[in-house]
Amino acid sequence: MSFDTSQINKLRQDLRDQESVWVFGYGSLIYKADFPYFERKPAQIRGWSRRFWQGSHDHRGTPEHPGRVVTLVARDETCVGMAYRVAPDTFDHLDVREKNGYLRFETPLYFLDGTTAQALVYIATEGNAAWLGEAPIEEIAAHIARSHGTSGANRDYLLALEASLKELGAHDPHVFAIADALRALEAKSGGA
Ligand code: SIN
Repeated sequence: MSFDTSQINKLRQDLRDQESVWVFGYGSLIYKADFPYFERKPAQIRGWSRRFWQGSHDHRGTPEHPGRVVTLVARDETCVGMAYRVAPDTFDHLDVREKNGYLRFETPLYFLDGTTAQALVYIATEGNAAWLGEAPIEEIAAHIARSHGTSGANRDYLLALEASLKELGAHDPHVFAIADALRALEAKSGGA
């Protein structure tokens, strides 16, 4: 698979005759909505867990020094995030934003108010061209501490995600442990 999945995603679901589509965000899509939407509601999906196992060669790193961003891995857990109801043509923007290895998948969506819907979610599956995979928490934190890309510092991605998950009341031991390890590292090296 090439790094740019935007063209593949266009062919995965035909959204043209839909009035609106739900998209579930679990990473930067929770806190950075740089697209128009009709409504936005906290939600969760089942069977998935967030991991900093995907490389970012565009937003939070470079082709030579990719950063680390989140994807979902199959686990018997629920993943809390933010859902947006958008117009189908919003995917023109989202497909480009999420082009570094993410593919659109369909998923049942469980809103925190008890209602349900069908949604699309961008997942970078194991073995894609930008996949970095599992590493010890301290190693992931050190990798994030030194990475920067066109969307800014990788540490800012991590800390914004941690803050938005806390705001949602979501407990994510993986993300919170990496954020703690980053702070410990920065304290040791005298600041960010
Ligand atoms: C998402 O937020 O749903 C996908 C991963 C990201 O863009 O951080």
